[in-house]
Amino acid sequence: MSKAKSSRDRRIAPPGVARVTRSSINPQDSQRTKPADSGLVDDLSLMSVSEQQASLARKGKSPSTKAILSSPSGSSVPRGALGTIGRLMKLGRVRNIVVVAGAGISTASGIPDFRTPGTGLYANLAKYDIPYPEAIFNIDYFSDNPHPFFSLAKELYPGHHRPNYVHYFIRMLHQKGLLLRMYTQNIDGLEKLCGIPDDKLVEAHGSFATAACHLCYTPYPAEEAKQAIMNGSVPICTFCAGAVKPNVVFFGEDLPEKYFQHAEDFPKADLLMIMGTSLKIEPFASLVNTVKSTVPRLLLNRDPVGPFERRPLRRGDYMELGDLSDSVQKLAEILGWHSEIQDLMNSHENGLCSYTDPSNSSGENSDSSETDSMH
Ligand code: OAD
Repeated sequence: MSKAKSSRDRRIAPPGVARVTRSSINPQDSQRTKPADSGLVDDLSLMSVSEQQASLARKGKSPSTKAILSSPSGSSVPRGALGTIGRLMKLGRVRNIVVVAGAGISTASGIPDFRTPGTGLYANLAKYDIPYPEAIFNIDYFSDNPHPFFSLAKELYPGHHRPNYVHYFIRMLHQKGLLLRMYTQNIDGLEKLCGIPDDKLVEAHGSFATAACHLCYTPYPAEEAKQAIMNGSVPICTFCAGAVKPNVVFFGEDLPEKYFQHAEDFPKADLLMIMGTSLKIEPFASLVNTVKSTVPRLLLNRDPVGPFERRPLRRGDYMELGDLSDSVQKLAEILGWHSEIQDLMNSHENGLCSYTDPSNSSGENSDSSETDSMH
């Protein structure tokens, strides 16, 4: 894979510490941030239903479901983040959605994320005997000792997991003609596997689909690299004898060229959906700050992250906290897409592939099984 050469855009993380995003260390931001239990976080109009309930519960007040859930117009569309974004979408005010995603979209597929205490990958690397968790994805450490990464890679290679409802929701955004691009940090390949086409997808942290020498970047057949790694040996570059690795982007490496498409995409976005990421890793995390200030941003995550940690939220920022699958399903229900997504998911997962992609004008089957070849 060709590598972009700008050192400015290298992934940076000091040893042992994930880089903190600008928003969480900006002193102005921290002044604006109110402690969650201070009683001051009560601008209910800025909170989703679940946040309002959590906030009221923290203050020992029982939330009036009626007050929260019934809208003044008596409309059945719920208020809160999902209701607002759902309304915008139904009104046709949104046509170019950029999705920014991380490991949280794949936990429902049985793949742990990185940083959730206890269950995250970085909390479970003791057996690899590495100096700090992120060393396993550090290119200098790999150069010195590729074995910990190769042991882990046996588990990480795509093939054991299936896409979940969240992936299919994003595919449905594409099929409805609303997805401008999906930027994912994930290396599990589930976006491709669920049928999001290549031209709609930017795998910002690379993937296992190709392999190359980590020293001279000479390409190496991905399947041969996989076989060697699975057999416990180190694939060696035929050109310079360096260790070959799958083109997963390590700390200290450049991001794929496709990533730089963001400079054109983000200014065109009319809605940003941020899903299942801690927004801790640069340069990816800062992408969310590159949409126009008038563009709504929706965070779907277990907890507030990045610019969503501050109070009050920026006008136009919405968040729905909780389990991602639940939130995405609620949004799909508001949009009237839920059964369509279930049908798509069932037919694709059962291998029936009978679902016809409405965005495919030739009427060809929408199955993307060609992407399975990477597994
Ligand atoms: P993290 O583990 O840092 O963050 C995942 C986020 O998703 C956290 O905020 C979780 O609370 C949230 N989350 C997890 N499961 C969820 C669920 N079911 N519902 C709602 N929220 C959920 O993962 P990333 O942000 O993707 O780089 O990490 C970024 C990069 O750091 C990765 O690409 C990886 C790592 O170093 C690589 O080298 C491969």
